[in-house]
Amino acid sequence: MAQKTRKNPYVPGKAALEFKPDFDWTIEEAKELYERKKADDSIIYQDCIDHMKRVRDETFDMVLADPPFGIDFDGKSSAYNRNPDNVAEGYSEIDDYADFTEEWISEVARIAKSSAQIWIVSGWTKLEDVLRGIRMAGLETVNHNIWKYNFALFTRKKFASSHYHVLLCSKKPKRMFFNKVLHYIEDVWIINKRYRKGEMKNGNKLPEEVVLKCIDFGSRPGDLVYDPFMGNGTTAVCCKGSWRHYIGSEININMGPIIRNNLDLVKEGEMYVPYTERWQEILKSRGHDPKKCGNLTQTTIPRILFEADGTALFEERENLLRGEDEN
Ligand SMILES: C[S@@+](CC[C@H](N)C(=O)[O-])C[C@H]1O[C@@H](n2cnc3c(N)ncnc32)[C@H](O)[C@@H]1O
Repeated sequence: MAQKTRKNPYVPGKAALEFKPDFDWTIEEAKELYERKKADDSIIYQDCIDHMKRVRDETFDMVLADPPFGIDFDGKSSAYNRNPDNVAEGYSEIDDYADFTEEWISEVARIAKSSAQIWIVSGWTKLEDVLRGIRMAGLETVNHNIWKYNFALFTRKKFASSHYHVLLCSKKPKRMFFNKVLHYIEDVWIINKRYRKGEMKNGNKLPEEVVLKCIDFGSRPGDLVYDPFMGNGTTAVCCKGSWRHYIGSEININMGPIIRNNLDLVKEGEMYVPYTERWQEILKSRGHDPKKCGNLTQTTIPRILFEADGTALFEERENLLRGEDEN
């Protein structure tokens, strides 16, 4: 019997090689979009529910909320191996976590646009309340991502907790904006926390990589992002650094100077990297000279690599993809 030959033979990794993000903006385009949409980038030192009640419906293009843990955590315990003098005073926990959660999530749902990605970070101990709040607010959970981090506390009679839940929610998933900037995206993110020795902080800063990932996949340059629990101002810093606008609230006034200092350390747009340029960086980090790879675009890189050394370079591209995810 004659063997059937496929018209388009299967090439391992071909889909990844030919991948293009839905949107990619040059630095100039991103800057222009940012400047065209004027916004009062600001942080209001107030209870987020009181603040949100004054905001119009459907205002924000994206929301990122990293609420207090609800575990009597002030970040000063010796178990966290920190100098308590570097942890800002005034961290407050919540009396009725379930009610509080329901209320702030319903306000977030009201002030987010239908197309908005709504990101909610939660530890496992209060996840039940958070999922209930999401349901009560009529939001849908699009992804239940796990962020795996380092610095888990040593435990004797249970497993050390080393993950958070980073939930992607939406009012209308079919209308939700989503810029798929990588071909293969998994819902487990391995991102380490940085050891910020000697820096003034509140005890639970998100790594910029986590916040930038949400911003990259969930917004366009010039978009307005809301964070009800600003903490150290990480969302504001990442927005400023990637040509996005921000508004936030933070109940602890002692965080004011820390947030201002963190914002002063970042220049507008300095964290923004167009997709095409990311490839140059990745190639360089793997010992390739991007200039010798010709005119780099996401479609030509794989072809050049393929022409040079066939299958081995497909494998190389696969490693590059994995490498990018790890960063
Ligand atoms: C987990 S931290 C956020 C950390 C932040 N994502 C960062 O990277 O620095 C939660 C923050 O919410 C603040 N907070 C607690 N209750 C609040 C409320 N009702 N309104 C606004 N902020 C509140 C706390 O003071 C704390 O700074």
